[in-house]
Amino acid sequence: AKDPVRVLVTGAAGQIGYALVPMIARGVMLGADQPVILHMLDIPPAAEALNGVKMELVDAAFPLLKGVVATTDVVEACTGVNIAVMVGGFPRKEGMERKDVMSKNVSIYKSQASALEKHAAANCKVLVVANPANTNALILKEFAPSIPEKNISCLTRLDHNRALGQISERLNVQVSDVKNVIIWGNHSSTQYPDVNHATVRTPAGEKAVRELVADDAWLNGEFITTVQQRGAAIIKARKLSSALSAASAACDHIRDWVLGTPEGTWVSMGVYSDGSYNVPAGLIYSFPVYCQNGEWKIVQGLTIDELNGEFITTVQQRGAAIIKARKLSSALSAASAACD
Ligand code: NAI
Repeated sequence: AKDPVRVLVTGAAGQIGYALVPMIARGVMLGADQPVILHMLDIPPAAEALNGVKMELVDAAFPLLKGVVATTDVVEACTGVNIAVMVGGFPRKEGMERKDVMSKNVSIYKSQASALEKHAAANCKVLVVANPANTNALILKEFAPSIPEKNISCLTRLDHNRALGQISERLNVQVSDVKNVIIWGNHSSTQYPDVNHATVRTPAGEKAVRELVADDAWLNGEFITTVQQRGAAIIKARKLSSALSAASAACDHIRDWVLGTPEGTWVSMGVYSDGSYNVPAGLIYSFPVYCQNGEWKIVQGLTIDELNGEFITTVQQRGAAIIKARKLSSALSAASAACD
């Protein structure tokens, strides 16, 4: 039998945590033959609720679950973990400024990063889910310099899966027959969902999504905004943010990273840019990746369509555009970013 893998979930008493821990304990994340030990971290005000989740995990009698550590102690939570899913954090609430959220997350991610760096298993893989996910991942990396860059990622798989879902609904095909959409950039409303390389398996072979949809106005307009704004639509409908789908996407992200992507299929992950596609190196940016032997690799050589090209070059050349318009470089936005 395999040795158990230790999986940390921070913010485990929250909504996503409640959906995620049973998936992990059932083998959805690491496979039906992989025993797991769950490490659950939350903060003292949530300790009782966390203990309730632990009670339910006992009551569910999961055969793969070989142990549960439920704690409010960061070091205890991080000790020996092979996989860390960072769901806990301080979300931006109504009336809060961005810089207030940022400073709260800096202190949270600083202590969790150093606990992971000192106490996690060697080669621990980290997935940041808590928003702002790209930024939190970057903060974590800053404060855990000995964790290799390749081991720190953030979740854009939910956006990727949302894009697959929209295509499948539109074409009335099984979602499992749709593949190779791409989420470029941030997990936020500025992401770019790209269908230009996406295909659908049909009885007549693989067909391009662009060819099957044949409605460029929808693909270039409503499709993109639906994916970008899906999180807000879920909040409007549930009065709570996406939890089931976020938990499922976190399992997909780790499963593909550890066990590999199917031949010819890529997925979207927020990872360290190495400068591919002219994305500045050192940013945590969502790219299409193949995974094999526990490592991701950015898919190279894709032609960038006009829209996507425009998105990337607009961001890259924004400074020049401001200079052109103001005859002076960006000052207001730079000052504001320094405050952030
Ligand atoms: P939630 O508020 O229900 O749960 C968050 C949990 O984190 C709470 O139990 C809270 O006590 C805990 N927590 C707060 N500070 C902590 C700390 N320092 N250490 C450990 N735990 C801490 O929130 P929910 O709905 O579970 O969402 C969690 C995060 O995931 C949010 O930041 C949300 O914006 C983000 N999210 C990201 C998505 C993505 O695709 N990347 C999708 C959906 C949500």
